[in-house]
Amino acid sequence: MTLHDFAHGLPKAELHLHLEGTLEPELKFELARRNGIELAERTVDEVVATYDFTDLTSFLAVYYPAMQVLVTADDFRDLAYAYLTKAASQGVRHAELFFDPQAHTSRGVSFDTVITGYRRGIVEARRDLGISAELIMCFLRDFSAEYAMATLTDAIRYQDWIIGVGLDSDERGNPPEKFAAVFARARQAGFLLTMHCDIDQVGSIDNIRTVLTEIEVDRIDHGTNIVEDPALVDLAIEKGIGFTTCPISNSFVTDDMKATEIVDLLRRGAKVTVNSDDPAYFRGYIGDNYAALADRGELSPADLAQIARNSFEVSWISDRRRQELLTEVDAYFASHQ
Ligand code: ADE
Ligand code: ZN
Repeated sequence: MTLHDFAHGLPKAELHLHLEGTLEPELKFELARRNGIELAERTVDEVVATYDFTDLTSFLAVYYPAMQVLVTADDFRDLAYAYLTKAASQGVRHAELFFDPQAHTSRGVSFDTVITGYRRGIVEARRDLGISAELIMCFLRDFSAEYAMATLTDAIRYQDWIIGVGLDSDERGNPPEKFAAVFARARQAGFLLTMHCDIDQVGSIDNIRTVLTEIEVDRIDHGTNIVEDPALVDLAIEKGIGFTTCPISNSFVTDDMKATEIVDLLRRGAKVTVNSDDPAYFRGYIGDNYAALADRGELSPADLAQIARNSFEVSWISDRRRQELLTEVDAYFASHQ
């Protein structure tokens, strides 16, 4: 068996996945047709030709306009179901999925439409494929803290369906402290907390410090610039903080996969995980990310199994389910020796 096949079949959790970032061109055309929306591009190749990103900002400029085709609860259901089907085929046993309600409420689609559709996709995928999934609601950091607070109030109405809250979109000029009060309130309401600390941002290391020591998140999304401050790495390890890294995404929004930083953190014992971020745009799902990192970072099957174990260790699941899934990793590894 090749390392690529081993990586794809390995039981794993996906912890950094934007549902809106799984909109493949084919589904985009289908939803546009269903909703009577005229698109600028006529073919899949024409859509993919617009995926010419040099940084996070240029990616987001393509990402948000594409969402106009998502209108009804069925559309959101179909998006989640299609992603979970693909994920299950690459070894994902559990997924914690980001969604961006403000990318929809800001254009007139209701919070209820978005969440009832996504929830239905998750329930149906669990029934049909045995994959478990939870939702993490992200605030868009380039909108105001007041809008985030109002969105949190919406989320509290659906608390049984949302396990945690996160922060995404453009980090430039939008540091974590802008949302300190929103995250304090979210924690008080019982949500788990995570935040994006995107790669090579101005002030990356200061933002990572704030997120760890002031906001006191449970996980960090990306966050590999932490290697710039060894004392902070020690603190993250002591706290058992999970890092949800996304190698292929990194190579799109910077000029590097950041394999050196990811492997450095892994070797030091940080709870590094590997994920796919926005796989429809970065053209790689989670198995592809494991395989790409293994190639670039010279990782062994044992290293990949450690990353998969980390993914379940920092998942927001019951201890019973965690043990069940860790046992699956061990059995898979043992049977592929
Ligand atoms: N929204 C979708 N993908 C993102 C990323 N990688 N960083 C920040 N915001 C995002
Ligand atoms: Zn992300």
